[in-house]
Amino acid sequence: MKLSKQQIRRAMRQRRKQLSPFERHLAGLRLARHATHIAILKRHDRIALYFDNDGEIPTRPLITHLIKLKKQVYLPVLHPLGHPSLLFYRYRPGLPMPTNRFGIPEPEQRGQRATRAWTLPLVFTPLVAFDKHGNRLGMGGGYYDRTFDRSRCRARHTALTGLAYQFQEVGSLDAEPWDTPLAAIVTDGGHRCFGTASGIIKED
Ligand SMILES: Nc1ncnc2c1ncn2[C@@H]1O[C@H](COP(=O)(O)OP(=O)(O)OP(=O)(O)O)[C@@H](O)[C@H]1O
Ligand SMILES: [Mg+2]
Repeated sequence: MKLSKQQIRRAMRQRRKQLSPFERHLAGLRLARHATHIAILKRHDRIALYFDNDGEIPTRPLITHLIKLKKQVYLPVLHPLGHPSLLFYRYRPGLPMPTNRFGIPEPEQRGQRATRAWTLPLVFTPLVAFDKHGNRLGMGGGYYDRTFDRSRCRARHTALTGLAYQFQEVGSLDAEPWDTPLAAIVTDGGHRCFGTASGIIKED
């Protein structure tokens, strides 16, 4: 019997919340190690990430590492006019991070302009489940799908790379017409690219 999207979301969110603090910590360190090996990360200085939430695999070790490497780190901010899409702002450790309506910290918007999402070469995205073809199941808001809509050709230059626990891989997900596929995935178990995007992972 095939599970519905809602059933997969519920099961995966529950499973990741059952991990112990030590398991989470270890997975976050492993994720950071695998992510820093992907070729596109070495080639570009502007990288978007997100603060983990809802039991997602910890992203702080990766963010800290990228800052040490002198990368420019960007984080998503909910569109201020209520449009369900994302803007990206530069993250600078130590600066105020007000929380949005989901309780997630966002970079202060005062004093800086939003970076247009499609100009970012590498964007790490959260997800609830993924499959071997690079289909992505998110929390259900469609935020990343709208922001990186492939029907708008500009968005095609961004390598959307999912971050997850290895156990979040499922047999197959039914892609909806609006779903934006992943170019690659990084987990605590390693990294993999999908389709024709092999240059993301491999060295030149
Ligand atoms: N490009 C788009 N244009 C219009 N509506 C969209 C678009 N992308 C998604 N949606 C709408 O958003 C809703 C949620 O989409 P979906 O279930 O794919 O979310 P998700 O990918 O799980 O969430 P997220 O991307 O926020 O992690 C859908 O019902 C769909 O109607
Ligand atoms: Mg989707």
